[in-house]
Amino acid sequence: MIDWLTVARAVHVVAIVHWIGGLLFVTLVVLPSLLETEAPRRLTLFDALERRFATQARVSTLVAGLSGFYMLYSYELWGRVADPRFWWLDAMIGLWAVFTTVLFVAEPLFLHAWFDARARRDPDGAFRVVLRGHRVLSLVAVVTVLGAVGGAHGLF
Ligand code: HEM
Repeated sequence: MIDWLTVARAVHVVAIVHWIGGLLFVTLVVLPSLLETEAPRRLTLFDALERRFATQARVSTLVAGLSGFYMLYSYELWGRVADPRFWWLDAMIGLWAVFTTVLFVAEPLFLHAWFDARARRDPDGAFRVVLRGHRVLSLVAVVTVLGAVGGAHGLF
């Protein structure tokens, strides 16, 4: 008999590895390198690299959400969402909600256009804003992963 809950957990972790690993790579490697590249090439490279990853991140965010809610429902963990001792559960759902909003709503609706216009006017400023945003999200993501693994294995 296949244990679908364990399958969901494994799929969840693979989706997180792709999504958060990619976020850290963009934050620690891609964006700092782009800041050292001359302005006209920078935007073209950014389009090719970050936007390709954004498309993939939409898929892993979706898979992480589906497998996460499946576990939440099957383990009957809804009651824990309101319990501060399970803060890591709220951190997972909160981070997921932020990314889902950015990738599926804000980016296609206005963020893409805003960034293009700002990057043409003030390339350094625009990239610094993007780097700062990615750093904050990366920090929150690392704390969330630490909390999720610790919490799921009884550390708190
Ligand atoms: C809709 C969003 C999400 C939901 C509903 C969700 C739900 C869950 C649930 C129910 C578990 C099992 C907890 C337990 O065994 O007690 C879990 C495990 C886990 N989640 Fe999420 N999650 C979501 C998003 C995320 C995000 C954004 C991250 C990382 C940044 C993440 C990382 C993890 C990790 C690392 C585990 C632990 C796996 C293990 O060590 O067994 N999840 N998640």
